[in-house]
Order: sequence, then structure tokens, then C-alpha cells
Amino acid sequence: MSIVLVWAQDRVGAIGRAGTIPWSVPEDMARFKELTGTGAVIMGRKTWESLPARFRPLPQRRNIVLTRAAGYWAEGAEVAAGLEAALELTGRVAAVIGGSEIYTAALEHADELRVTEIDVLVDAADAFAPPIDLDRWEAHQVGQWQYSRTGTLYRFVDYRRIDYRNR
Ligand SMILES: NC(=O)c1ccc[n+]([C@@H]2O[C@H](COP(=O)([O-])OP(=O)(O)OC[C@H]3O[C@@H](n4cnc5c(N)ncnc54)[C@H](OP(=O)(O)O)[C@@H]3O)[C@@H](O)[C@H]2O)c1
Repeated sequence: MSIVLVWAQDRVGAIGRAGTIPWSVPEDMARFKELTGTGAVIMGRKTWESLPARFRPLPQRRNIVLTRAAGYWAEGAEVAAGLEAALELTGRVAAVIGGSEIYTAALEHADELRVTEIDVLVDAADAFAPPIDLDRWEAHQVGQWQYSRTGTLYRFVDYRRIDYRNR
């Protein structure tokens, strides 16, 4: 069983602005593809709708979209009415890929967090990652800062849960 949350954030935890991801770091997209592989990905309805048409559904992966709207149709994806239902669909082996609402709800279920830190400060951000409580999570792998080919600095930080009692 493994539930992994995957996100990229700016210096203060911003992940989005006006329904988009406000930076361009192709190396992060490549890592996202590698991490999500051919498994199940769970996302909120707004993140689903924010995917460019050519990546919707995300290819080779089982796409599951969370919405409270009865009768919502997501071409090429499955729809779930709640996080628990979505996790059950996957046998609790899934990558949770956003956005803010879904990360916040899924954090208590997660085993691992795979975070990309982007060295920018997004103006007028409106979506944020949940805070990571270091009494419950250990950054067991902290990558070197690297320059993207777009010129932006980024690094990968992997967290594992150290407090299973409060899960
Ligand atoms: N930087 C990153 O790594 C990253 C990754 C993903 C997304 N993003 C960004 O994050 C932003 C979107 O995040 P967001 O928080 O606004 O939206 P979101 O989490 O993608 O979607 C929210 C929607 O999910 C549904 N939902 C939420 N909780 C639910 C629950 N418990 N049960 C059933 N349905 C539930 C609701 O859909 P209904 O309204 O249809 O009921 C809700 O409006 C965008 O800017 C996107 O680009 C960034």
C-alpha cells in the first residue's frame, strides 16, 4: 500500500494561480511522469480541467477525478465522489496529483510526499500546498539545487512519514 502526494511549490508553498501552474520547469514534468508511471492518479476536478487537452487523460495512467457534482463526466477518466472512494478504487496505491484541496484532504492518508521546490515567489498565487509538519514527516532525501533549461532553480525533496500513530 502506498499513497504518494506529488507536487511542485514556490518558496512559500504556492502551487497555482488562476487555474494554472505559474512556472515552466520541464525537468519537473519529466519527474512527474516518472513518478506517476503507469499507476493511478487522483486529482480534483479543477486540476483535471486545467490539464491541456492533449494530456487529458494523462496517458498510460488510470485517471480518477474527484467531484461532488452528480453526473460529472470526465472523458477517459473515472469519477469519484470522495477521497475515500477514490483510494478504494485504487486499492490504496495511487499518486495524488492535486490541487490544493485534494492535497490537504489526502495528507493524512499519505505515506510519502515528493515535492519539487521551485526557487520563485509567485505573485497573486491562489492555490497552496498544505504545510508539512516536521514532527510527522522527515525529509529523507534533499536534492541539490539545479538550474532548469528554462533558467529556473529547483530541487527535489522527498519526505517519508515518521508518525504513523496519527494517520
Ligand atoms: N504545482 C503543482 O504541483 C500543482 C498540481 C496540481 C494542481 N495545481 C494547481 O492547483 C490549482 C487547482 O487546485 P484547487 O485546490 O483550486 O482545485 P482542485 O483540488 O484541483 O479541485 C477542487 C475540486 O475537487 C473537488 N473536490 C474537492 N474535495 C473533494 C471531496 N472531498 N470529494 C469530492 N470532490 C472533491 C471539487 O469539485 P466540484 O467543485 O466539481 O465538486 C472541488 O471544487 C490550479 O491552479 C492547478 O494548476 C498545481
